[in-house]
Amino acid sequence: MTEPGLDLVTGGAGFIGAHLTKALLRIGRRVRVIDDLSTGRADRLSAVNGQIELMRLDLASADLSVAVAGVERIFHLAAIPSVPRSVATRPNHPNTKDSRSRRSRPTGSQRPRLRRMCASSRSSTAWTR
Ligand SMILES: NC(=O)c1ccc[n+]([C@@H]2O[C@H](COP(=O)([O-])OP(=O)(O)OC[C@H]3O[C@@H](n4cnc5c(N)ncnc54)[C@H](O)[C@@H]3O)[C@@H](O)[C@H]2O)c1
Repeated sequence: MTEPGLDLVTGGAGFIGAHLTKALLRIGRRVRVIDDLSTGRADRLSAVNGQIELMRLDLASADLSVAVAGVERIFHLAAIPSVPRSVATRPNHPNTKDSRSRRSRPTGSQRPRLRRMCASSRSSTAWTR
């Protein structure tokens, strides 16, 4: 069941994701962050520790059913933010534009009842719709 006011920010320990997380808290939203901390830093969120739910996991390979449970909106920013680097360093990783990224998408009853999904990034992303 959807929890009113609950947002999920993927890549929330990243440069843009951390700013977005704090902005959402300022307007009264509750925020769950998913980040594998591959390029992100938990200290970007230290000012809001205790106000957010931080889940350290790899979107590309984790079971996302718990992570997406109850969320109303998803802001999808998790990425290796350089396409050349993502391809060069992790050629088979689902973070790349490789269609394997679709493997980790929630399906059927796992899918959240989203009001909104925002995938704003224009680089490599994990788990895209
Ligand atoms: N920073 C900019 O100026 C800018 C401009 C335009 C577009 N973008 C795009 O916005 C997106 C975010 O950019 P950013 O600058 O915040 O990058 P960033 O590297 O700071 O943030 C990306 C976050 O995603 C996390 N992440 C990566 N793979 C993950 C995975 N498999 N599972 C969970 N978390 C994972 C990283 O740890 C990191 O915290 C990128 O797609 C980037 O191309 C950024």
